[in-house]
Amino acid sequence: MLTNPVQPLAIVVLISGDGSNLQAIIDNIASGQLSAKLVAVISNRDQAYGLERARRHGIPTQVIAATLHPDRTAYDQALMQCIDSYSPQLIVLAGFMRILTTEFVQHYAGRLINIHPSLLPKHKGLHTHQRALDAGDNEHGATVHFVTPELDSGPIILQMKVPILPNDTAEELQQRVHQAEHQLYPEALRRIATGRVQLRGDIVYVDNSPVTAINRFIELANHAK
Ligand code: GAR
Repeated sequence: MLTNPVQPLAIVVLISGDGSNLQAIIDNIASGQLSAKLVAVISNRDQAYGLERARRHGIPTQVIAATLHPDRTAYDQALMQCIDSYSPQLIVLAGFMRILTTEFVQHYAGRLINIHPSLLPKHKGLHTHQRALDAGDNEHGATVHFVTPELDSGPIILQMKVPILPNDTAEELQQRVHQAEHQLYPEALRRIATGRVQLRGDIVYVDNSPVTAINRFIELANHAK
């Protein structure tokens, strides 16, 4: 449990792909807007472009390929061992596209967070942009939440909405959500790093006030469309 974070907050980031959220975090640290240190970036895919982003900034990288492990339990054991060797305070999932075992999630209870491209509890799982369009939603967005064993269901820390415009394609919507994510994740991390966020039971508190379905949104700066 992350009660009194030591600054700078030591973070391990897990990725599977492009790593644009990782980049946003790196940029916020570099500009002094986030007091954190990325102690490692770990990927399940050796081709993940995010690894290149990390290397460019001198952040240690590791690849743990699923093919080298007989099952999910063995994979997650190896992943835990690797993560723990860096002694992070917080583990940040940034497009890490694997289902995690309950054992893994419980090992990091209260210090494992994820970003999901929808306004949870809406549109858990994959293809959220197309599903928001198919549902006729007029807004979409992104959520940062603590990870619990049930997929995309943990206590919500912060959300950001984006509009759905007439004739949007899933790709256009995805791009808009990505822009929102690049503000949302660093802001959520800032709140955690400065000790403002606490998880008590399954309720998130910010500055000692419970996060609710009403107050958990932040606005997108300079409304990029
Ligand atoms: C992000 O949109 C993130 O919300 C999503 O993967 C993308 C990764 O982009 N995560 C999930 O769908 C997890 N359920 P990035 O590699 O450019 O940061």
